Amino acid sequence: MRFATFTLSLLFAALFAVALPLGATDPPVPDLTPKVQAVLDEIRKADTGNLAVSAEDGRFLRLLVATNHTKQALEIGAASGYSAIWIGLGLRETGGRLVTIEYDPQRAKEATANIARAGFSDIVSVLAGDAFQRIPKVQGQFDFVFLDAWKRDYQRFFDLVFPRMPKGGRPDLLTTIVAPSGEGVSVSWKRQ
Ligand SMILES: C[S@@+](CC[C@H](N)C(=O)[O-])C[C@H]1O[C@@H](n2cnc3c(N)ncnc32)[C@H](O)[C@@H]1O
Repeated sequence: MRFATFTLSLLFAALFAVALPLGATDPPVPDLTPKVQAVLDEIRKADTGNLAVSAEDGRFLRLLVATNHTKQALEIGAASGYSAIWIGLGLRETGGRLVTIEYDPQRAKEATANIARAGFSDIVSVLAGDAFQRIPKVQGQFDFVFLDAWKRDYQRFFDLVFPRMPKGGRPDLLTTIVAPSGEGVSVSWKRQ
């Protein structure tokens, strides 16, 4: 499960992974520049562990971020930066920023390089390290969180980030499960 929240607060969680066959690329998205499309395709081809979200879920993340007018987004679990680029596309329209955290040092390096090659270094910052340690050191609040680490940690991450999301004094969530792709996605809105 992948999990996102926004504030309107959106927590978005990955339900289960369905992968394209190895080496497959996603159909081109008409409004992506060739440079961005090429980086997304390269990440997909190299993703032998099938870590990245589907292209459908990437488009869904972009839409959520843009329509929510997100300013400060957090991603837990960058892998090689695929979803971060999609979130960055949404933030390009809102003027927002993303901090994405990855504890595998090699993947954190790849994410940083891929985000730079796609032209999103001004929007997306990659932090290498354990998100449980890094999140308390990130300043400010989050109006969008994409939780995409290991499922066993979802509840602990939720408890860590929920108080950092503005709006509403009560822990009052409206959660629904949607499936833009074959993967399941839960979306939670923190009520006003
Ligand atoms: C499913 S992958 C993320 C895929 C990525 N969001 C995408 O769609 O392109 C999960 C990632 O979370 C990372 N991860 C797991 N636990 C973590 C933690 N406590 N802190 C930082 N990263 C973590 C793993 O190393 C792995 O790269």
